[in-house]
Amino acid sequence: MTTPSKLLIDADDAAYDLKDIVVEHLRSKGVDVVDLRLMENEETTYPGVAYNLAQKISAGEAERGILICGTGLGMAMMANKVQGVFAGTCHDTYSAERLKKSNDANVLTFGARVIGSELAKKIVDAWLDSEFAGGGSAPKVELMRELEKEAFENQKS
Ligand code: RB5
Repeated sequence: MTTPSKLLIDADDAAYDLKDIVVEHLRSKGVDVVDLRLMENEETTYPGVAYNLAQKISAGEAERGILICGTGLGMAMMANKVQGVFAGTCHDTYSAERLKKSNDANVLTFGARVIGSELAKKIVDAWLDSEFAGGGSAPKVELMRELEKEAFENQKS
Protein backbone atom coordinates (compact mmCIF):
# COMPACT_ATOMS: atom_id res chain seq x y z
CA MET A 1 0.00 0.00 0.00
CA THR A 2 1.11 3.53 -0.77
CA THR A 3 0.91 5.04 2.69
CA PRO A 4 0.01 8.73 2.61
CA SER A 5 1.77 10.83 5.24
CA LYS A 6 -1.60 11.70 6.73
CA LEU A 7 -5.18 10.95 5.78
CA LEU A 8 -8.25 12.85 6.98
CA ILE A 9 -11.61 11.13 7.36
CA ASP A 10 -15.08 12.19 8.42
CA ALA A 11 -18.71 11.13 8.07
CA ASP A 12 -22.22 12.28 8.79
CA ASP A 13 -24.69 10.48 11.04
CA ALA A 14 -25.68 8.10 8.22
CA ALA A 15 -22.18 6.64 8.20
CA TYR A 16 -20.60 6.74 11.67
CA ASP A 17 -20.44 2.93 11.96
CA LEU A 18 -18.88 2.43 8.54
CA LYS A 19 -16.40 5.24 9.20
CA ASP A 20 -15.24 3.57 12.43
CA ILE A 21 -14.69 0.29 10.55
CA VAL A 22 -12.71 2.08 7.83
CA VAL A 23 -10.61 3.96 10.40
CA GLU A 24 -9.75 0.70 12.18
CA HIS A 25 -8.90 -0.92 8.84
CA LEU A 26 -6.59 1.95 7.86
CA ARG A 27 -4.86 2.07 11.24
CA SER A 28 -4.24 -1.69 11.07
CA LYS A 29 -2.38 -0.98 7.82
CA GLY A 30 -0.25 1.75 9.38
CA VAL A 31 -2.01 4.72 7.81
CA ASP A 32 -1.86 7.90 9.91
CA VAL A 33 -5.60 8.64 10.01
CA VAL A 34 -7.08 11.77 11.57
CA ASP A 35 -10.78 11.26 12.32
CA LEU A 36 -12.19 14.78 12.33
CA ARG A 37 -15.57 13.86 13.95
CA LEU A 38 -16.99 17.32 13.20
CA MET A 39 -20.61 16.39 13.93
CA GLU A 40 -19.65 15.31 17.45
CA ASN A 41 -18.48 18.85 18.15
CA GLU A 42 -20.62 21.05 15.95
CA GLU A 43 -24.27 21.17 14.98
CA THR A 44 -24.03 20.60 11.25
CA THR A 45 -24.89 18.19 8.45
CA TYR A 46 -23.02 16.66 5.52
CA PRO A 47 -22.23 19.96 3.73
CA GLY A 48 -20.47 21.26 6.85
CA VAL A 49 -18.58 18.01 7.31
CA ALA A 50 -17.40 17.95 3.69
CA TYR A 51 -16.49 21.64 3.67
CA ASN A 52 -14.43 21.28 6.86
CA LEU A 53 -12.38 18.36 5.54
CA ALA A 54 -12.00 19.90 2.08
CA GLN A 55 -10.65 23.16 3.51
CA LYS A 56 -7.99 21.21 5.39
CA ILE A 57 -6.99 19.34 2.22
CA SER A 58 -6.90 22.63 0.32
CA ALA A 59 -4.67 24.12 3.03
CA GLY A 60 -2.21 21.22 2.69
CA GLU A 61 -2.91 19.66 6.09
CA ALA A 62 -3.08 16.23 4.43
CA GLU A 63 -2.63 14.79 0.95
CA ARG A 64 -5.83 12.78 0.92
CA GLY A 65 -9.24 12.61 2.57
CA ILE A 66 -12.21 10.24 2.79
CA LEU A 67 -15.81 11.37 3.32
CA ILE A 68 -18.68 8.96 3.99
CA CYS A 69 -22.39 9.77 4.11
CA GLY A 70 -25.54 7.90 3.07
CA THR A 71 -24.73 7.91 -0.64
CA GLY A 72 -21.36 9.68 -0.87
CA LEU A 73 -22.94 12.11 -3.31
CA GLY A 74 -23.59 15.17 -1.16
CA MET A 75 -20.11 14.90 0.34
CA ALA A 76 -18.49 14.90 -3.12
CA MET A 77 -20.64 17.77 -4.35
CA MET A 78 -19.71 19.94 -1.38
CA ALA A 79 -16.02 18.98 -1.24
CA ASN A 80 -15.68 19.90 -4.91
CA LYS A 81 -16.69 23.48 -4.10
CA VAL A 82 -13.35 24.03 -2.39
CA GLN A 83 -10.41 25.07 -4.55
CA GLY A 84 -7.76 22.39 -4.92
CA VAL A 85 -10.09 19.59 -3.95
CA PHE A 86 -11.00 16.94 -6.49
CA ALA A 87 -13.46 14.46 -5.03
CA GLY A 88 -15.19 11.47 -6.57
CA THR A 89 -17.75 8.93 -5.36
CA CYS A 90 -16.84 5.26 -5.86
CA HIS A 91 -18.80 2.12 -5.13
CA ASP A 92 -16.53 -0.29 -7.02
CA THR A 93 -12.80 -0.95 -6.91
CA TYR A 94 -12.13 -0.24 -10.59
CA SER A 95 -13.51 3.30 -10.28
CA ALA A 96 -11.56 3.83 -7.05
CA GLU A 97 -8.31 2.86 -8.81
CA ARG A 98 -9.07 5.09 -11.81
CA LEU A 99 -10.12 7.96 -9.50
CA LYS A 100 -6.45 8.28 -8.54
CA LYS A 101 -4.66 6.94 -11.63
CA SER A 102 -6.69 8.90 -14.20
CA ASN A 103 -8.25 11.78 -12.27
CA ASP A 104 -5.71 12.39 -9.48
CA ALA A 105 -8.51 12.87 -6.96
CA ASN A 106 -7.44 13.81 -3.47
CA VAL A 107 -10.80 13.01 -1.84
CA LEU A 108 -12.74 9.73 -2.04
CA THR A 109 -16.38 9.52 -1.03
CA PHE A 110 -18.82 6.61 -0.75
CA GLY A 111 -22.16 5.80 0.82
CA ALA A 112 -22.89 3.67 3.87
CA ARG A 113 -26.40 3.08 2.50
CA VAL A 114 -24.99 1.80 -0.79
CA ILE A 115 -22.15 -0.60 0.07
CA GLY A 116 -21.12 -2.85 2.94
CA SER A 117 -17.97 -2.62 5.02
CA GLU A 118 -15.93 -5.30 3.19
CA LEU A 119 -16.37 -3.62 -0.17
CA ALA A 120 -15.72 -0.21 1.42
CA LYS A 121 -12.34 -1.46 2.71
CA LYS A 122 -11.42 -2.82 -0.74
CA ILE A 123 -12.41 0.49 -2.37
CA VAL A 124 -10.28 2.45 0.09
CA ASP A 125 -7.33 0.13 -0.52
CA ALA A 126 -7.69 0.36 -4.31
CA TRP A 127 -7.61 4.16 -4.12
CA LEU A 128 -4.71 4.35 -1.65
CA ASP A 129 -2.69 1.74 -3.56
CA SER A 130 -2.93 3.90 -6.67
CA GLU A 131 -0.91 6.90 -7.73
CA PHE A 132 -1.63 9.36 -10.53
CA ALA A 133 -0.45 7.66 -13.73
CA GLY A 134 0.32 10.83 -15.72
CA GLY A 135 0.77 10.05 -19.44
CA GLY A 136 -2.36 10.75 -21.48
CA SER A 137 -4.24 11.74 -18.31
CA ALA A 138 -1.78 14.50 -17.45
CA PRO A 139 -3.07 17.19 -19.90
CA LYS A 140 -6.68 16.41 -18.93
CA VAL A 141 -6.01 16.79 -15.22
CA GLU A 142 -3.97 19.90 -15.96
CA LEU A 143 -6.97 21.31 -17.86
CA MET A 144 -9.22 20.59 -14.86
CA ARG A 145 -6.82 22.56 -12.67
CA GLU A 146 -6.61 25.46 -15.17
CA LEU A 147 -10.40 25.66 -15.53
CA GLU A 148 -10.84 25.44 -11.78
CA LYS A 149 -8.43 28.37 -11.35
CA GLU A 150 -10.33 30.34 -14.01
CA ALA A 151 -13.67 29.59 -12.31
CA PHE A 152 -12.41 30.79 -8.92
CA GLU A 153 -10.82 33.91 -10.41
CA ASN A 154 -14.11 34.73 -12.20
CA GLN A 155 -15.98 34.42 -8.92
CA LYS A 156 -13.73 37.02 -7.31
CA SER A 157 -14.16 39.59 -10.09
C1 RB5 B 1 -28.63 12.03 5.05
O1 RB5 B 1 -28.47 13.32 5.52
C2 RB5 B 1 -28.15 11.91 3.62
O2 RB5 B 1 -28.76 12.87 2.81
C3 RB5 B 1 -26.63 12.09 3.54
O3 RB5 B 1 -26.01 11.17 4.37
C4 RB5 B 1 -26.02 11.88 2.17
O4 RB5 B 1 -26.47 10.68 1.58
C5 RB5 B 1 -26.09 13.00 1.24
O5 RB5 B 1 -25.62 12.96 0.11
